[in-house]
Formats: sequence, C-alpha cells, structure tokens
Amino acid sequence: MQEPETDQESVKDELSRLAVKKGYGSSARHIFLCTGDKCSSSQINAVLWQKLKEKIHQVQNENPDTALLRAKTDCLRICEGGPLALVYPDGTFYHALNEQKIERIVDEHLVGGCPVSEYSFFTQQLKS
Ligand code: FES
Repeated sequence: MQEPETDQESVKDELSRLAVKKGYGSSARHIFLCTGDKCSSSQINAVLWQKLKEKIHQVQNENPDTALLRAKTDCLRICEGGPLALVYPDGTFYHALNEQKIERIVDEHLVGGCPVSEYSFFTQQLKS
C-alpha cells in the first residue's frame, strides 16, 4: 500500500531535518569503523568505537562548529588486518588501529584534512 503523496513529503522533510541535525551537509568527512569480528576481535573494535565517539565529542566540545560524522559497520569487506576504518570522501582505508591511531586520525584527517599515510593502506575515491 502506497502512502499519500503529502505523507511521503512530510516523511522526507522530517528525515531531511534529521540529516541536517546530525551534521550531514556541514561535515567534510565521515569515518566508518568496522566493528565486525572477522578483521579483529569484536571486543577490541568495541573499545575503539568508544574511543572514536569520545574523541569526536571532545573535538566538538572544544569547537562546536566542527561537524564530524562517524558510523560503525559490520564489515568493510577486507576482513584482515583490523581493526579497520574507512574515511570518505577521500576513500582512505586505515588498518591495525589502536586508540592512539584513532586520536591522530581524528585530529589530522577528520579535522585537519590530511590523511595519516603511515596508518593507511589504500586510498581511492569512489568513481562518479
Ligand atoms: S569484519 Fe571487518 S572488514 Fe570484514
């Protein structure tokens, strides 16, 4: 059953409002951290996810105008050498992550715009 067109438009408006509220449209970069259990242990990945959240909150508390996006994913389809993360729009993959590396990636790449090349193993923007 199809919703009336006005309902669909109000749903789209609400979703669009939420996207803006969450920082889509004002963020320069989006980091995806794998929390699956094939590339690393899910316990270690959970610790790194917590670290990533705390670090991003710290940055945003210090500078509320900094919009950073983060998401966890069950798999980035590499499944080796984790913990792994991927930063868009650059298409930069990071491997063997730990808490110190997360700190540098947030500061230097997500905020500063410079990928941390010594932690990266592949960079390729998606083709349009
Ligand atoms: S489980 Fe992490 S990349 Fe597949």
